[in-house]
Amino acid sequence: MSDIQTVLEGHSLRKSYVSGSDTIEVLKGVDLTLARGEIIAVVGPSGVGKSTLLHLLGALDKPDSGEIYVDGVDVLSLSEDDISAFRNKRFGFVFQFHHLLPELTALENVMIPCIIAGMKPAQAEKLASEILINNVGLGGRLEHRPRELSGGEQQRVAVARALVMNPLVVLADEPSGNLDPDSSKSLHDLIWELRDRLGQSYVIVTHNLDLARRCDRVLKLFDGVVEEVKI
Ligand SMILES: Nc1ncnc2c1ncn2[C@@H]1O[C@H](COP(=O)(O)OP(=O)(O)OP(=O)(O)O)[C@@H](O)[C@H]1O
Ligand SMILES: [Mg+2]
Repeated sequence: MSDIQTVLEGHSLRKSYVSGSDTIEVLKGVDLTLARGEIIAVVGPSGVGKSTLLHLLGALDKPDSGEIYVDGVDVLSLSEDDISAFRNKRFGFVFQFHHLLPELTALENVMIPCIIAGMKPAQAEKLASEILINNVGLGGRLEHRPRELSGGEQQRVAVARALVMNPLVVLADEPSGNLDPDSSKSLHDLIWELRDRLGQSYVIVTHNLDLARRCDRVLKLFDGVVEEVKI
């Protein structure tokens, strides 16, 4: 038996969008697996369905058919309420534009997943400040609002927010797509350092070939299916 633990599996995932009289078949039977501690890249041309796939994997949207297992749990069999709680506990999300709340400080933004999970504010503040100080190097920026942070720092806050609940899987959609080359490189270094230290698995959607090359595996999405490629 293999000792590699699978944390996320998608089987035969299909997704179409109907707009007006048109039906666009975006995903036509996607299969993928992600092992504990693994970082995989999903690449492919614009409009091919990468974000769609990431949303299905993170239970932000449902496939038309197929199966998704996260840590052995059949995600599609969960009720809506259970899915929200499951998502908050099991997944961290990092998007191209950080999606931080502008009126909240870095610390408060990172506390949000904890508060959603029902944690007491004092405990949420402790966890959020620890991760900002110890894991993403932003100890000097706790009280800054997003507009008072650089683009790279904002993405670090987004990474801290993704990690604060100690998720099993981090799903990232163009996490460095909006950063200059130096800030991108430093965000990528941070992701690898955190993976090595904390052991989360990552699915990273990217157009950045340097980032994709660094990943353990690269999956190319094209014509509705994925295949593993060497780049
Ligand atoms: N809610 C929606 N309703 C209708 N069509 C949609 C919807 N969301 C996405 N699409 C279509 O599905 C296709 C895939 O979109 P998706 O955002 O997944 O692409 P992508 O690979 O992430 O592209 P990019 O690299 O530009 O971010 C596109 O043709 C898009 O227009
Ligand atoms: Mg996209």
